[in-house]
Amino acid sequence: MTGYPLHRPRRLRTTPAVRRLVAETRLHPAQLILPAFVREGISEPVPIGSMPGVVQHTRDTLRKAAVEAAEAGVGGIMLYGVPAVQDAVGSEGTNPDGILQQAIRDVVGEVGDQVVVMSDLCLDEFTDHGHCGVLAPDGSVDNDATLERYAEMAVVQAEAGVHMVGPSGMMDGQIGVVREALDGAGHQDVAMLAYTAKYASGFYGPFREAVGSSLKGDRKTYQQDPANAREALRELELDLAEGADLVMVKPAMAYLDILRQVADASTVPVAAYQVSGEYAMVEAAAANGWIDRDRVIMETLTSIHRAGADQILTYWAVEAARTLRQ
Ligand code: PBG
Repeated sequence: MTGYPLHRPRRLRTTPAVRRLVAETRLHPAQLILPAFVREGISEPVPIGSMPGVVQHTRDTLRKAAVEAAEAGVGGIMLYGVPAVQDAVGSEGTNPDGILQQAIRDVVGEVGDQVVVMSDLCLDEFTDHGHCGVLAPDGSVDNDATLERYAEMAVVQAEAGVHMVGPSGMMDGQIGVVREALDGAGHQDVAMLAYTAKYASGFYGPFREAVGSSLKGDRKTYQQDPANAREALRELELDLAEGADLVMVKPAMAYLDILRQVADASTVPVAAYQVSGEYAMVEAAAANGWIDRDRVIMETLTSIHRAGADQILTYWAVEAARTLRQ
């Protein structure tokens, strides 16, 4: 024997009650944000094959899903529009009567007092080439011309009543330009959830099906390289300087180190996006009986929260909120 008492960390793991008492990380339904897709011109919801349990909503079923989310205590809803027509500049994204604007009005009207209603501020759902911006004659994504489209889009979304916009295109200067446009149109109270550190990721695969994306190629000239951590902090610095109200890291699970670094440096709340591929992997393994689905879902969310996320976008938001309230 050493003469020291034997230290027993296991003492704090002995019963459910003591484990509950000492848990450092506790998620609340209000921290969860549900991403939801609404598609123009359909009369029934359309299942998304690579995301079992997730659908493209009709305007009507979206309203119902929003009520269900609000009743479960979910904190926010992030809306994605799937238009019937796509074109080179993503015209439907700035059409005041476009599907996304209609959905914003519907959801704000239905649950706007109970949850924060957010909208994706990006062109990829609306362009026929599938890029997040407009193209220059040489086929590259034109940063500054895209900023003008984002400015216009932000105002149209604000006019539809959205509470918070989510610029997700990774164009340089997007946060400052969107802030200026919103303020210029009298929408000082519309907040911005900035996609600050968004990586060029294979984990977005199922999302491309969800929004009917026509993208060929990749987004590596505007989304970040998975090899890099430092530039996430540079993006953070810029987004904070340009007025981001919340910042986000995306995807979540393969980027928990980035999330921790951003959380340590940020002066505003930090969100993380558990993306479509993360969802699909768990659902697929669970469908094969290879993992305990419910347990793994809560473990992923707890870990993302522990790594530094104050808010989590997750396709399991409603289910997880119900579990957390038990
Ligand atoms: C861009 C956008 C994407 C996602 C959210 N916003 C797609 C992309 O960048 O390719 C992906 C979300 C997910 O995979 O769940 N509008």
